[in-house]
Amino acid sequence: MAAIPAQAQGDDDRWRAARERLVADHLVPQGISDSATLAAMRAVPRHRFVPADQQPYAYENTPLPIGHDQTISQPVVVAFMTQLVRPRAGMRVLEVGTGSGYQAAVLAETGARVWTIEIFRALAEEARARLARLGYRGVTVRHGDGYAGWPEEAPFDAIVVTAGADSIPPALIQQLAPGGRLVMPVGDPLLDQELVLVEKDASGRVASRRLLPVRFVPLLRGVR
Ligand SMILES: C[S@@+](CC[C@H](N)C(=O)[O-])C[C@H]1O[C@@H](n2cnc3c(N)ncnc32)[C@H](O)[C@@H]1O
Repeated sequence: MAAIPAQAQGDDDRWRAARERLVADHLVPQGISDSATLAAMRAVPRHRFVPADQQPYAYENTPLPIGHDQTISQPVVVAFMTQLVRPRAGMRVLEVGTGSGYQAAVLAETGARVWTIEIFRALAEEARARLARLGYRGVTVRHGDGYAGWPEEAPFDAIVVTAGADSIPPALIQQLAPGGRLVMPVGDPLLDQELVLVEKDASGRVASRRLLPVRFVPLLRGVR
């Protein structure tokens, strides 16, 4: 095996230490306690999912621009959404809103299989290449409008929507498996958006709960 140059090794250690600080200073104090979620947040190199000029801020607890007026979400929100849907090895998870691919990588790090849809072709292609480069083989990226979900791969044990709309697209609720959990920002992006958790019980009955105010970019319609 080729030796890792000292500089690269030092960089790796520095980034790893920054991730540990993010977990200890922000995620745990803000209520992230699920061990699979915390392990995933410690493992995924967020600095590899942001543009080069944003790398110095990769482990601050803040959203960052990724182009096309879109953002990589705040780490605590990524962790919170992950914890809510409880991904585990072998589960089938749909994400709507691939963006950089970071949330998909966090979900995949738990051993879940992930299908993720992005409406901007350029973002979808970049995320697909990035996830392959980083070795996330359990993630499949599609360029498309996630409003309709991914019927060929349904049902899903969990669905994570990372853009907000007035209501939850009916196709996504249909594509949730019995016992499944869906999380999505619902409401007006500028006024009163809230994170909503939908749970489908074993008999297919659906119940939803509003959890906390959030601010996400809007769920767009029509591929770009
Ligand atoms: C907050 S960003 C998501 C961040 C992303 N999950 C990440 O980890 O980088 C929301 C993403 O949803 C995408 N999006 C918006 N409407 C969509 C739709 N109807 N279908 C699929 N993706 C959509 C946006 O282009 C954007 O990349």
